[in-house]
Amino acid sequence: MFIVLEGIDGAGKTTQLALLTERLRQRSPEVVATQEPGGTPLGDRLREVVKHGADLDIVPRAELLLFAASRAQLVERVLRPALARGVSVVCDRYVFSTVAYQGYGRGVDRGLIAAAVDLATGGLLPDLVVLLDLEVRLALQRIASPGRREPTTFAPARGRDRFEGEALAFYERVRQGYRDQAAVDPDRWLVLDATRPPDHLARIIWEKVEKFGLQG
Ligand SMILES: Nc1ncnc2c1ncn2[C@@H]1O[C@H](COP(=O)(O)OP(=O)(O)O)[C@@H](O)[C@H]1O
Ligand SMILES: [Mg+2]
Repeated sequence: MFIVLEGIDGAGKTTQLALLTERLRQRSPEVVATQEPGGTPLGDRLREVVKHGADLDIVPRAELLLFAASRAQLVERVLRPALARGVSVVCDRYVFSTVAYQGYGRGVDRGLIAAAVDLATGGLLPDLVVLLDLEVRLALQRIASPGRREPTTFAPARGRDRFEGEALAFYERVRQGYRDQAAVDPDRWLVLDATRPPDHLARIIWEKVEKFGLQG
């Protein structure tokens, strides 16, 4: 099973990734937990550039392609091989972030977004997308508080990145971008109220995953 966690910064993706991975590993020890951008040596370098390259004056189309390059590497080197072996994959962000951030957030043309997504994935889509939906104000409060962790390595997160410095209006557009995507594909998406406690959210996600296991 291929599961993606989405939501604006601070929504709780990394927290749920850890909880879900732990539960999946109890069922079957081999689980791939990864993240975007990143998840490969190339992707990790690109992650550094897109998140912390505030001095690079990255234009929106270049940003789109940097994410696409990281994703192409992840799809071919990690996601497809794991899924082909029957290993479950949990990914912190995927193509839906591109639509939300570069499309709704930065205003890059939809056709270009779709082309970049297709180029990077060759059409690989997850079985389930969990949207942790949170009011922007609350998300920004969470980002400002200490205790956030980098996904997969769980090292303390570095200071505010290029996205976390964006204005409220940017995040409002991004949030709407996620909600719109969920609305047109309700079978694939599980939309959760991210103000609920982590354990509660983890339980709902797990119920959904188990249901999928029964069907699949
Ligand atoms: N359901 C929740 N309720 C309250 N706080 C949460 C919840 N989930 C995560 N947090 C806290 O919010 C902050 C951001 O969570 P994180 O998982 O890093 O979000 P993301 O990966 O989406 O940016 C962390 O300090 C985390 O402990
Ligand atoms: Mg995170």
